[in-house]
Amino acid sequence: MHLNRKQVDTGPIASLRDVWKAYKGEEYILKGIDLGIGHGDFLCILGPSGAGKSTLLRIIGLLDRPSRGEVEVFGRNVAELSDDEAARIRLERIGYIFQSIDLIPHITIRENIEVPMYLRGVRGAERRARALELLDRFGLRHLADRYPHEVSLGEQQRVAAMRALANGPSLIIADEPVAHLDEENAQLLFELLKTLNREDSVSIVMATTSEEEAGVADRVYLLRRGRLSLGYQV
Ligand SMILES: Nc1ncnc2c1ncn2[C@@H]1O[C@H](COP(=O)(O)OP(=O)(O)O)[C@@H](O)[C@H]1O
Ligand SMILES: [Mg+2]
Repeated sequence: MHLNRKQVDTGPIASLRDVWKAYKGEEYILKGIDLGIGHGDFLCILGPSGAGKSTLLRIIGLLDRPSRGEVEVFGRNVAELSDDEAARIRLERIGYIFQSIDLIPHITIRENIEVPMYLRGVRGAERRARALELLDRFGLRHLADRYPHEVSLGEQQRVAAMRALANGPSLIIADEPVAHLDEENAQLLFELLKTLNREDSVSIVMATTSEEEAGVADRVYLLRRGRLSLGYQV
């Protein structure tokens, strides 16, 4: 066990039943989505820009709520979750990697990885040790004391992945995580995600516009005009 999880989720991770989503006063962006995410799944949502991928990922990741339909995350019906309960689940059990690389510029790489642990109330020495352990595991220990602008974009995004792992999540939401990376750095990030999925059984849901990138996942869904369909399964 590489991730020091408070709890290990081995049951269903998330399920969506007939989920619809419209932003205020606008047309439906998601139209009747059914999707199940199991323990250890690595799945990808493939669709063109504007298809609703980020909207879907935000709903799965408890960052937004559906207009209609039922969403369960870690066995909890999200309609019955208070905002505080949702915030706690996000902090303890879900890690996020976004398209825009968003490290805090005025603190070091190690301190960036510590942020989610700080929010959870983990004390300083333990935070530091855990951040260094993550950097070690993925070969980036030498960057610990640098600031984000002193490392490459590819390294920054791998650090963002380690920050997503800080609290030992059971689910990683990765929204077009390599959109700003070159081929080589994209491969390095994908290798990192695959390692987490295989060695730690972290479930991963990734969005991409690229069929080739989608090949990293075991199951690929197509999102077109608000509808989701299974593309293929490895
Ligand atoms: N907060 C929002 N308010 C209104 N419209 C939004 C909001 N977020 C996204 N949209 C619209 O929803 C559609 C789907 O967006 P998004 O989920 O970001 O798609 P994708 O990630 O596939 O590019 C787009 O037309 C976008 O403009
Ligand atoms: Mg998007």
